[in-house]
Amino acid sequence: MKTETTIQGLSASLSPARTARKMIGFVPTMGNLHEGHLNLVREARKLCDTVVVSIFVNPIQFGPNEDFDSYPRTLEQDQRLLAEAGCDIVFAPTVEQMYGNKPRLTNISVGGITNDLCGLQRPGHFDGVAVVVTKLFNIVQPNFAFFGQKDYQQLAVIRQFVRDLNIPLEVIGVPIARATDGLALSSRNGYLSAENRAIAPAIYQSLKVAEQQLLAGTVLSEVLQNIKSALTDAGFVVDYVEARTTELQNIEQFDADMVLFIAAKLGATRLIDNLQVKYPAS
Ligand code: PAF
Repeated sequence: MKTETTIQGLSASLSPARTARKMIGFVPTMGNLHEGHLNLVREARKLCDTVVVSIFVNPIQFGPNEDFDSYPRTLEQDQRLLAEAGCDIVFAPTVEQMYGNKPRLTNISVGGITNDLCGLQRPGHFDGVAVVVTKLFNIVQPNFAFFGQKDYQQLAVIRQFVRDLNIPLEVIGVPIARATDGLALSSRNGYLSAENRAIAPAIYQSLKVAEQQLLAGTVLSEVLQNIKSALTDAGFVVDYVEARTTELQNIEQFDADMVLFIAAKLGATRLIDNLQVKYPAS
């Protein structure tokens, strides 16, 4: 496995694969890798001849009071894990390599679906994601790109601008990887104290209880309120508990497949999770 830190170096490393028209799979990450990321790499390995993983903590997707500076940077450990998971090339550029030293005057802003859920809590976040992911797509020029469904809204935003801008690749969503106690894997889980780590699985438990309540006929508004109460009682500060259609449209009652979304803080750590609930008649 090679590691490249420059766009030129990456292009040179990918040149034989491009010339031989090999399928290139791409997994964009911010590093501090866990099983969730490695699942994406394994999926890429199954479908593609050459697997590229980027590790880049993207400054423009963090708000002023967010954790850009403290975000864990663990390149050597990540390289070991990636080699084991079957990655061919790691792309680990600096901020200067990605953004240069002249001001960036172009933005990519997806409307509609970003004015909701995490988009309301984190203004500018999805623009930052859209810009960096587009730049990475242009640099790597993959055939397939792999993203986790834990960031369901992010995945929807990426699918949208790929479609809107005719970016020639296929986006693949990969199911959420969970710890054995149900907690969705996230690099931010590492911020949790031992006490909060023990409480954190309540998010997934509350989603599973909600699914049972919906299937048993409890009205949606009551189900959402039950999740909020359960999380508040467990010690969370709830940012939002919401239901949307799988296309992120509003849904008032359980009459179609839907996704339940939670964002909640434990101490200073903000956790997100979601669960797709299938409408029985569909
Ligand atoms: O999901 C992430 O880790 C990041 O938002 C991404 C897609 C790598 C863009 O920086």
